[in-house]
Amino acid sequence: MIIETETLQQSVESEHEHQTKDADMVFSSFLSLLDSGEIRTVENIDGEWIVNAWVKKGILLGFRLGILNQIQDGSPFSYFDKHTFPLKTFSVKDNVRIVPGGTSVRKGAYIAPTVIIMPPAFINVGAYVSKNTLIDSNALVGSCAYVGERVHLSAASQLGGVLEPIGALPVVIEDDVMVGGNCGIFEGTIVRRRAVLGSGVILNASTPVYDLVNKTIIRKNRKGSIVIPENAVVVAGSRKVESSFAQEHGLSVYTPMIVKYRDERTDAKTALEESLR
Ligand SMILES: CC(C)(COP(=O)(O)OP(=O)(O)OC[C@H]1O[C@@H](n2cnc3c(N)ncnc32)[C@H](O)[C@@H]1OP(=O)(O)O)[C@@H](O)C(=O)NCCC(=O)NCCS
Repeated sequence: MIIETETLQQSVESEHEHQTKDADMVFSSFLSLLDSGEIRTVENIDGEWIVNAWVKKGILLGFRLGILNQIQDGSPFSYFDKHTFPLKTFSVKDNVRIVPGGTSVRKGAYIAPTVIIMPPAFINVGAYVSKNTLIDSNALVGSCAYVGERVHLSAASQLGGVLEPIGALPVVIEDDVMVGGNCGIFEGTIVRRRAVLGSGVILNASTPVYDLVNKTIIRKNRKGSIVIPENAVVVAGSRKVESSFAQEHGLSVYTPMIVKYRDERTDAKTALEESLR
């Protein structure tokens, strides 16, 4: 039996609260819609990112229902996971390029047509990857993370996942963002359109970002997110620690800084090569 999308939210909420014999069927309908991108963990409403807590509840329901199983998916390899979270299946018609070599995409992650995934990458349940985006080698798109269009998620960059707490906002990378190699973006950080994160930038809710252009310090907002402004170019820097002990020992602390806002030079350095697409 397939549940209509309209009643799905109610069913998920109620199964999350008090599990019944229908829980497997509710979860299966839920996972199909998550997988096809019809439902999402985060949505942009009038420029503001809103978390759909019920979608996170649905994923948690799947973990609760899951039984550890040996999963043999037809490839020479088998693996061991909760039976509720098999690998996502693709066909050529999906128009997604997955270069061979250890990539794993869990069912319940949405991958738009024209996305390219270099090996090995891991894309977790509830993640949403929009069209023309490149996920490079050793990248992680954590559970529920949102990645916009034409994003370059460079080698070894990590987008943290968030299932709990239920109301916590996932990491959001908006359209045309360049995430440099070895970046780590965690705890509901929002990177606005066309921003550029230089190699090795780490952002989490506790990392103040120093904007050298506007002479301001960006700290987490009332929803607990660091928001990197549109077009900002962020690089990994450091700043002096003020205590006398720290000064005595010449200590500094890692600090992301906005050194400029995107210009032609940045565009040239971060341009995506059409022929590779
Ligand atoms: C951020 C980046 C794109 C440079 O942007 P840009 O607009 O060309 O920056 P500019 O060269 O104009 O530099 C502006 C200032 O920031 C400094 N700067 C630039 N990139 C920096 C970095 N990554 N770390 C520290 N400082 C940096 C420059 O020295 C310059 O400072 P100055 O004005 O005092 O000389 C580049 O440094 C970068 O990190 N690219 C990503 C590379 C990568 O990871 N590729 C992945 C391939 S898989």
